[in-house]
Amino acid sequence: MTAVLEISGLHAGYGRIGVLQDVGVTVAAGEIVSLLGPNGAGKTTTLLACSGMARVSGGDIRLDGRSLLRLSPHAIARKRLAHIPEDRSLFPSLTIDEHLRLCAKPGGLDVLELFPELKKRRNRKAGVLSGGEQQMLALGRALCAGPRVLLVDEMSMGLAPVIVERLFSTLREIAASSGLAVLMVEQHVHLALKYAQRGYVLGGGRVRTEGTAGELAERWPEIESSYLGR
Ligand SMILES: Nc1ncnc2c1ncn2[C@@H]1O[C@H](COP(=O)(O)OP(=O)(O)OP(=O)(O)O)[C@@H](O)[C@H]1O
Ligand SMILES: [Mg+2]
Repeated sequence: MTAVLEISGLHAGYGRIGVLQDVGVTVAAGEIVSLLGPNGAGKTTTLLACSGMARVSGGDIRLDGRSLLRLSPHAIARKRLAHIPEDRSLFPSLTIDEHLRLCAKPGGLDVLELFPELKKRRNRKAGVLSGGEQQMLALGRALCAGPRVLLVDEMSMGLAPVIVERLFSTLREIAASSGLAVLMVEQHVHLALKYAQRGYVLGGGRVRTEGTAGELAERWPEIESSYLGR
């Protein structure tokens, strides 16, 4: 299995604060990989380091074998790495159409066909959309540029379960059909293990354990008591 995204021996943090220690994570083409772990474990920091927004002090992050270190966030995005942050980062006063026009690239997906809900509201401003519609737009905006790697932070945050299942199953179909590599952070363990093929459990800035979704689901009671202190 060749990794599209390969994080190895990563040490990263913010300013003088160290957060991640020796983190190793790989994601292959078409694969969905989950980062699990308690609050403050370093999940968001791992995604931020990949997109050039946390300080890396050791190790490497490679996309298709090429290091992303020392590239600006803008240059990393141009390497077709898309990041949907927890707050979704939409522009409240821009419409759905305007968001999609800003990012659409040849070879990208037709987001309005993918999400008819967005097509119906294409002239509405992002600020007045429901939470689910906003997350659809955030996902659509990331996908319309035809990314190679997608980082998603807490897609399910604040959304009804039926919408979350819809977003995750769409993402899984796209990963399977286009070879998109997805690294997602998800607090809901059952959702994460239902839609991801593999997962890593972080705690205190380190990878505590990893495995296939099936292995992690089976071991979950032990993982909670050994690594998550529950
Ligand atoms: N901008 C920042 N400056 C300094 N420290 C930060 C910053 N952002 C996060 N941290 C610290 O880094 C550690 C890891 O945070 P991170 O956001 O990666 O955790 P997380 O696993 O995503 O947690 P959560 O599940 O709560 O989102 C925490 O101790 C946090 O306080
Ligand atoms: Mg987080």
